[in-house]
Amino acid sequence: MNTRVVKINPENIDYNILNEAAHVIQNGGTVIFPTETVYGLGADALNEDACNKIFEAKGRPKDNPLIVHITCMDDLNKIVADIPEKARILADKFWPGPLTMIFKRKPIISDTVTCGLETVAVRMPNNKVALELIRLSKTSIAAPSANTSGKPSPTQAQHVIDDMDGKVDMIIDGGNCNIGLESTVVDMTLETPMILRPGKVTREDIDKIFGKCDYDPAIIKSDAKIIPKSPGQKYRHYAPKAKVITYKGNLSKVVDTINKAARLYIEQGKSVGIMATDQTQNLYNQGIICSIGDRLKPITIASNLFGQLRSFDKMNVDIILAEAVDDKELGKAIMNRLEKASSEIVNLKNLKLLLICTGNTCRSIMAQGIIEDMVKDKKLSIDVISAGINAIEGECPTKNAVDVMNDMNIDISSHKAKLLTKKMIDEADLIITMTEAHKKSIQKYLDNHKGKLFTLKEFANDENINDSLDIQDPYGGNYNDYKNCLDEISKYAISAINKIIKMNGLSKREEIKEELKNNSSLNFKRR
Ligand code: TXA
Ligand code: MG
Repeated sequence: MNTRVVKINPENIDYNILNEAAHVIQNGGTVIFPTETVYGLGADALNEDACNKIFEAKGRPKDNPLIVHITCMDDLNKIVADIPEKARILADKFWPGPLTMIFKRKPIISDTVTCGLETVAVRMPNNKVALELIRLSKTSIAAPSANTSGKPSPTQAQHVIDDMDGKVDMIIDGGNCNIGLESTVVDMTLETPMILRPGKVTREDIDKIFGKCDYDPAIIKSDAKIIPKSPGQKYRHYAPKAKVITYKGNLSKVVDTINKAARLYIEQGKSVGIMATDQTQNLYNQGIICSIGDRLKPITIASNLFGQLRSFDKMNVDIILAEAVDDKELGKAIMNRLEKASSEIVNLKNLKLLLICTGNTCRSIMAQGIIEDMVKDKKLSIDVISAGINAIEGECPTKNAVDVMNDMNIDISSHKAKLLTKKMIDEADLIITMTEAHKKSIQKYLDNHKGKLFTLKEFANDENINDSLDIQDPYGGNYNDYKNCLDEISKYAISAINKIIKMNGLSKREEIKEELKNNSSLNFKRR
């Protein structure tokens, strides 16, 4: 197939050329066009044969539905069966823009577009060339990202030419895409909107409007067993030819580890690319070092990510060592793509241990004091926090708790009680409670608590446990009651820490997690 490549300046559109492109769409052909996110490979959304050509050109799996691009709200009425009020509000706020919404479809949208789903994904792109092309074509345009399936999405015309020359009728070069990551996909058929693919429009943006927005559990958990609601999210994606290894955790540890890894791979004769950031690029001393942007301006990283992965391929790099970025707001979308591009993720994060009691004024802070002391002593990569299920925020520790701890040379007097939050539960790698009742009340917040939630005695797995699994509350008791309680906590805390140490070298958090999963059915004697 002969592909016609044309240039259009979005600031000064040449309508002769754009009309030509619209004719191609009207005649059932394929046109690649720029959007503010990534380039799209478009065809008439109401023409099944034309849409089939998209799948062919991309080598796209037949179960991965297409996004339909519209230019005005009238177009939306033509293709969806129902526009929920919340969707109108989001359209008002974010369209044209990097937001795709899922609606119930009308029959006019074929199974080829939706891959048999009863829903259709729709987006109004914020790019003049794209909007005008749709308008002139007098239809809606189905368009996935214009890359060969599995490759990083194209953010520059050259990426498109590299992948699609000879496979489509026309390519419109409209310059670089400024966002650089595909749109946020949100399911609007549910009462609470649910993000199926993170993007420039963040959960926080939608939260602000409705007070609540969910994530598809599959995009927050790296559990292969959870099937993503968006078919495209199940594929390993965005992958360059080179093997990508991503390093997460404390930044100086990440830089250190990447430097060591780079040296090792180079010694083995491999060509190594380092995907650094403005803040770290001077800290590397070998390999091909490229900054993908400023950590303080995640949009710079978003817009360079795919381009950088592709340019490492052009340099014939064997291995790309990449720094992770903060997994929040736009960083969530960046990490979603980077993780899908990676064949390995090395987690250098500290293990986050959360200790729980009722008021966070005695048991859990005594446990925290003892464990932090051991962590410091043994230089372990564990962060310890504590909280109470019914804590009064800011309350001081009880006097007896401070006194018994003082006698062990541990000062807990400045601790302020914290009320347990869902965020703490989500962020913890390991949660240890003082009693079974505490454990039960947390269990309901976890889809799967196995391997993550234990009582202290249960986790310490002391063979001698033959009575209660609870550490009794010394609250209201005298110094001796507290001393006995502390002795009990110390005994189990020591076994608990030893158990964590035995499981791992403590620098490989993933390994710890694996171990924890395997040890989830602990054997302990009960009365
Ligand atoms: O920014 C973007 O969204 C770009 C530009 C070109 O608009 N397009 C894009 O399309 O990224 P594509 O096909 O690469 O990704 C579409 C995603 C896929 O993950 C697909 O599975 C999902 O949207 N999707 C499409 N229809 C869906 C539906 N009915 N239900 C759930 N997910 C759907
Ligand atoms: Mg895509």
